Amino acid sequence: MEPRKFFSLLLGVTLALTPINGAYDKERDALLKGTFPQDFIWSSATAAYQIEGAWNVSDKGPSVWDTLAHQGRVYNQDTGDVACDSYHKYPEDVALMKQMGLKYYRFSISWPRIFPTGEQQDGVNQDGVRYYNALINELIANDIQPMVTLFHWDLPQVLQDRYGGFLNNHTTNTTVIHDLFGDYARFCYQNFGDRVKYWITFNEPWITSWLGYGVGNFAPQHNEPAEGQYKAAHNIILSHAKAYHIYDDEFRAAQGGQVGITLNCDWGTPKTPADADAALRYVQFFLGWFAHPIYKNGDYPEVMKTTMARKAQEEGRTTSRLPEFTPEQKLSISGTGDFFGLNHYTTVEVTDACCTPIENPNYDTDKDVGTGHAPDWPRAASSWLYVVPWGIRNLLGFIKEEYGDPEIYVTENGRSDHDQDPAIMMDMERICYYMMYTNEVMKASNMDNVKVKAYTAWSLLDNFEWLSGYSERFGLHYVDFNDPTRTRYPKASSVFFKQLVRNNGYPEGSEFTKYVENMWYFCHNTTEAEVNGYTGGASQISSLFSLFLAIPMMIAYSLIA
Ligand SMILES: *[C@@H]1O[C@H](CO)[C@@H](O)[C@H](O)[C@H]1NC(C)=O
Ligand SMILES: *[C@@H]1O[C@H](CO)[C@@H](O)[C@H](O)[C@H]1NC(C)=O
Ligand SMILES: *[C@@H]1O[C@H](CO)[C@@H](O)[C@H](O)[C@H]1NC(C)=O
Ligand SMILES: *[C@@H]1O[C@H](CO)[C@@H](O)[C@H](O)[C@H]1NC(C)=O
Repeated sequence: MEPRKFFSLLLGVTLALTPINGAYDKERDALLKGTFPQDFIWSSATAAYQIEGAWNVSDKGPSVWDTLAHQGRVYNQDTGDVACDSYHKYPEDVALMKQMGLKYYRFSISWPRIFPTGEQQDGVNQDGVRYYNALINELIANDIQPMVTLFHWDLPQVLQDRYGGFLNNHTTNTTVIHDLFGDYARFCYQNFGDRVKYWITFNEPWITSWLGYGVGNFAPQHNEPAEGQYKAAHNIILSHAKAYHIYDDEFRAAQGGQVGITLNCDWGTPKTPADADAALRYVQFFLGWFAHPIYKNGDYPEVMKTTMARKAQEEGRTTSRLPEFTPEQKLSISGTGDFFGLNHYTTVEVTDACCTPIENPNYDTDKDVGTGHAPDWPRAASSWLYVVPWGIRNLLGFIKEEYGDPEIYVTENGRSDHDQDPAIMMDMERICYYMMYTNEVMKASNMDNVKVKAYTAWSLLDNFEWLSGYSERFGLHYVDFNDPTRTRYPKASSVFFKQLVRNNGYPEGSEFTKYVENMWYFCHNTTEAEVNGYTGGASQISSLFSLFLAIPMMIAYSLIA
């Protein structure tokens, strides 16, 4: 580690002492000791556009995110042109995972890097195929299993131009985007499926639909807030089902893998008991929109259909803005998930039909809910990311009850901090986040019998955080984006995560668990320390003590890294 980084690491200690203003509930937030099931999957995740760079090498086609970034729409006019340069530096990425003891890696394939126009008949980019083969082989050689996302938002620009992308507005062919996504999925199964056993069709279709085709601030920037999101979601669900059946019919017998989808959802907690229905409605419109058709019965949630029908009446429309599936489509969608992929970061406080969009800018007129956050929830660098660890346990319990107890893979969870000088290398707040959230996941697994099979940290590396560019950092490893070689440096959280994986949780009596016990009160900021028999002073001392434990750990790590 170069001296500059070393000093920024030490200075980071000061920043780590920044108060974390959390509320602490003795029973709800207590540390659970124990371990995850033996076969539990620990993983970390990235996405193609956020890390690969090499946006125009060989025949790669432009994606809708290349277009958006080149229009200067991202904070600081950042782009993913180079990003972490993982297209060239993937062996280093794999070495970092190996160093951490990770046995799984979730990454995404860029559709336009494989088919430059999105359509196989227009040509295949063999260099793209070579790149993913090399990455997968490097992982396998290092005993790391690939979990591959087929679509992480980087739609080929040509498909947006030809068919409106997921609006699927070809004049005669009503299934064109479903078929083209199916062709792309088939090509990936054919070429990589001998080694890839975990497939995720879509990452967070809520984002693509709502922000990409409704609000239009995310690529492909289609602004049609009344209907765009519902049309896009409808076609994404049908495309997912298509890709699932292709695997089922043509590959499952020979390859024996699994196919699922990754849905994102914030937990919605009612602000008052009177807001309980609104909170449920919030979660149904968010998660149920996709999960109900795929994991339940092929159709949208009842509350979504009735609410949208009432809206249509109020708006004087003859049909609902929420499209309908045909009976055949319902049959083909239902049950198309071998596992339930979940991305979760935060919780919101939900208020029933409280006000108008003018009174509350977070008011959602389709759901009839307002959202906010409790004053004592600490916030990460990202404006939307409040740290509410118990939210994930509630959400996992909801999924178990609502969707027939599926196997759940947490495919993303993590915390951002700011891009600042000196760099935050002693990222105690990220350590606290992983500590508290994974402990809540363990409660869901071991106390609530939720079938949680995997936990995936977002992210392996600092990377291109969409509209925020490089101004928000989620990485277990620091990347210097001003350094042409994009050197990676381990943050303290990578040391913590390595220990967590090695211990498979928080086993009674281990050194690691003792460290966590010392940190627990610091992480939750218990000023009400007397509740737990500690004084405020003692809690401060224990947290300082933990920091001094962390520093030698960090230094030892950076020497061997
Ligand atoms: C804990 O939170 C309170 C208020 O929420 C704040 O005043 C205090 O400084 C915090 N203490 C620590 C040690 O973070
Ligand atoms: C690729 O894009 C970079 C800018 O990011 C540019 O300098 C380079 O000339 C381009 N290469 C090709 C082959 O178009
Ligand atoms: C399809 O959508 C695109 C993108 O919004 C638009 O430019 C195009 O005109 C649409 N085509 C049809 C046939 O509606
Ligand atoms: C629609 O387009 C897809 C993709 O090009 C093609 O496979 C399919 O045969 C087309 N369907 C019809 C009815 O033309």
